Amino acid sequence: MIGIWNFTKMIDFHNHVLFDVDDGPKTLEESIDMVRFAYNQGVTDIVQTVHFQHPKMEGKNTDYKYLVDRVRDFQFKIDKEKIKVKIHLSSEVFFLPNLLEISKNPLTKIGNGKFMLIEFRSDLFPTGYEDEFYQLKLNGITPIIAHPERYRFVQLDKNVLKKWKNAGYIIQLDAGSILGKFGNYTKNLALEILDMSCVHLIGSDAHNNKHRNFCLKDAYEKIEKLYGLETVNKLKKNAYSLLNDNKIKNIKFQKLKRASFIRSILSKLK
Ligand SMILES: [Fe+2]
Repeated sequence: MIGIWNFTKMIDFHNHVLFDVDDGPKTLEESIDMVRFAYNQGVTDIVQTVHFQHPKMEGKNTDYKYLVDRVRDFQFKIDKEKIKVKIHLSSEVFFLPNLLEISKNPLTKIGNGKFMLIEFRSDLFPTGYEDEFYQLKLNGITPIIAHPERYRFVQLDKNVLKKWKNAGYIIQLDAGSILGKFGNYTKNLALEILDMSCVHLIGSDAHNNKHRNFCLKDAYEKIEKLYGLETVNKLKKNAYSLLNDNKIKNIKFQKLKRASFIRSILSKLK
């Protein structure tokens, strides 16, 4: 069918898959188990985003060179297991009013490029974030706001998302939120945010091989049912653009009618 194309690269750019660096898995075995699980879902690239300057990282080593070595060793183990997934290194930056200063650290940007994945505290308004984001943008760095559906201040006023989109910030939902893994309230808000077309990317935010594992495929399937395969391809393409430091595009989320959904399924069978 014209207009339907299949984007085969599935990239997860938000997760904590590397063992013993943050609050992700504790052992190599669990990390490998998670990567295998991701691979079986079709994930081709995993960008490990270690928590950076988060209070829970007190006493943990986030030295860039140390982590480069850790990822290299981990990739070696993955290759040995014959799991065809490439591991990349980056971080999920905890918001503090020092973003421009820390942006000199190569760990703080995806692929040391022009995007920074940033999380806020879920329970407090991030005072001063607009000035910090403005400074980042002036210096060629685009903020990616991680899982807004989980922040109290967004739950109280979701119109802030439109403001962020208009300001050129990139918005990322957690796959688990869409699937209801953080409860119905967060799920419904995540679905509303999709309906508002205020989403550019979906990330797994995987932390372990149990209740917070990679779940991109399930989330994409749910989005496909609601908005069609083309929308899923656009999300996948944005993740690919992010990995390659290219422009991330706005996506219009338009609900499928049932007939369109059936056409979308049939086109996959051709
Ligand atoms: Fe995360």
